[in-house]
Amino acid sequence: MLTPKIAFLDSGIGGISTMLYAQNKIPNAQYIYLGDNSNAPYGSKTLRDLKSITIKNLIYILSYKPDALVIACNTLTTSLLPFIKEFCNLPVFGVSPPIEKEIIKGNKVFLICTPITASYYYGLKNVTVLPLQNLAKKIEENKFNLKKECFYEEREIIFKAISKIPNNKKLTTILGCTHYNFAKNLIFDHKKPHNIISGDQITINHLITQFRPIKNIKIACNNQVIFIGKNANINEKFYFSVVKN
Ligand code: DGL
Repeated sequence: MLTPKIAFLDSGIGGISTMLYAQNKIPNAQYIYLGDNSNAPYGSKTLRDLKSITIKNLIYILSYKPDALVIACNTLTTSLLPFIKEFCNLPVFGVSPPIEKEIIKGNKVFLICTPITASYYYGLKNVTVLPLQNLAKKIEENKFNLKKECFYEEREIIFKAISKIPNNKKLTTILGCTHYNFAKNLIFDHKKPHNIISGDQITINHLITQFRPIKNIKIACNNQVIFIGKNANINEKFYFSVVKN
């Protein structure tokens, strides 16, 4: 295999942040991106609906014959990764909130994420989970005009929750939804908590270390991305608007 094809799946633009990181680290691979904007947001769907949407998307992606698949969506990873791995006969890498690493370091964690993702992380020691019903939706809807004002309500909710965490000196905020990467600076600006991280980089590092063909790429194909699906042109437009800036 000379140029591996790596496919990315998310409910919309969020996974583009993960793909951009991958392109930076693996510039010579070929990329396929499916942003399922017409079914977004995923984070407040029932698991049954999410599963049937995902089956359709996987069949569609697999028709492009990728060599590896990145589930660039915390919601899908936390709820359906074992199913997705079984369904696809290829290496699958999911983005999820990197909580364990922070806890091992002795940090407290503040996790903001979709309601589905939140349901998998309640009750852990030193982890405060804040489900945000509308944040991914707002980012998706305002993608070509993201401003601080779009997130007034979310900012209030987030900073109120942070202020309630006792002894929050060693606090790490985890962005548990790939969409949030695009609003990070608008939400946190000067009120930045000490450390803000997401799972994307860890996932791409796993891809690099575990997916062998990446080590053997011979032909540079200039970061080619193919956007697929109903809203391919919207996602492509958004991608280029980010790449240009
Ligand atoms: N970007 C996705 C995630 O990481 C999904 C957001 C949504 O559609 O609710 O969870």
